[in-house]
Amino acid sequence: MIEISQYGPILRFLMGRTIGEQTVYTMACYLVDGLLIDSGPYHTGEEFLAALQDHPVEHLVNTHHHEDHIGNNHLLQTELGLPPAWAHPLGLSLIRNPAPWAKKMQAYRQIAWGEPEASQVVEVPNQIQTAHYLFDVLHVPGHSPDHIVLLEREQGWLFTGDVFISERLNVVRSDENVNDMIRSLQDLVQEPFETIFCASGAIRTDGKKAMQAKLDYWLTLKEQCQSLHRKGYTEDEIINHLFGAESRLAALTEGGMSRANLVHSILQEV
Ligand SMILES: [Fe+2]
Repeated sequence: MIEISQYGPILRFLMGRTIGEQTVYTMACYLVDGLLIDSGPYHTGEEFLAALQDHPVEHLVNTHHHEDHIGNNHLLQTELGLPPAWAHPLGLSLIRNPAPWAKKMQAYRQIAWGEPEASQVVEVPNQIQTAHYLFDVLHVPGHSPDHIVLLEREQGWLFTGDVFISERLNVVRSDENVNDMIRSLQDLVQEPFETIFCASGAIRTDGKKAMQAKLDYWLTLKEQCQSLHRKGYTEDEIINHLFGAESRLAALTEGGMSRANLVHSILQEV
């Protein structure tokens, strides 16, 4: 499934694999001024390629190396003749040769998004100039070590990849670093933006407020986790105390996304 929507000069491609009647784990790529931000999951490749026929792409940038963001790098480079993608230096080897980590993905990731093929990628510059816009590239580790976001200061746009997702997110991946995420959010809220374009597909014109709300929520959660930890609560007891129980997602994702991951990551710094 691919749905295309337009927000001023920005196109949003919302995409996901349809299994039976259901489209699972959708994500969004954005195209602005010839710059494609992320290439989507492998399983949506042919549909995405067809959708791009009327929309010229000159450059591709990957916000981070996760499979739903780089899955069609190879296809678009082969079929559209795109130059090597841009990504943060920490993501280069993971994008050039994804097999070692992609083979270990949990079933839900294999089913929903699929394994990306190897593709060409080079270090992203500090700024990306397109015909009409200038994007500052900001490194915001936490969701992954190589995560970047793109800031267009004049327009007040921030392309956030997977940094935002939602204000009160209380499950994270097992490889996320929540304390890094908090520091990245603290940096980001100082920047001049209003509208955020999220890889979840959400476009929020109250983006600064939403980002601040997420930061405040996580700072409160961090304080609560640390306080309970000092009182001798185990991680399981902290989850039950703060949330009542583990999230349903934990079982569905084989522990890939869980509250246990969130609490455990926070308590790496006490
Ligand atoms: Fe991600």
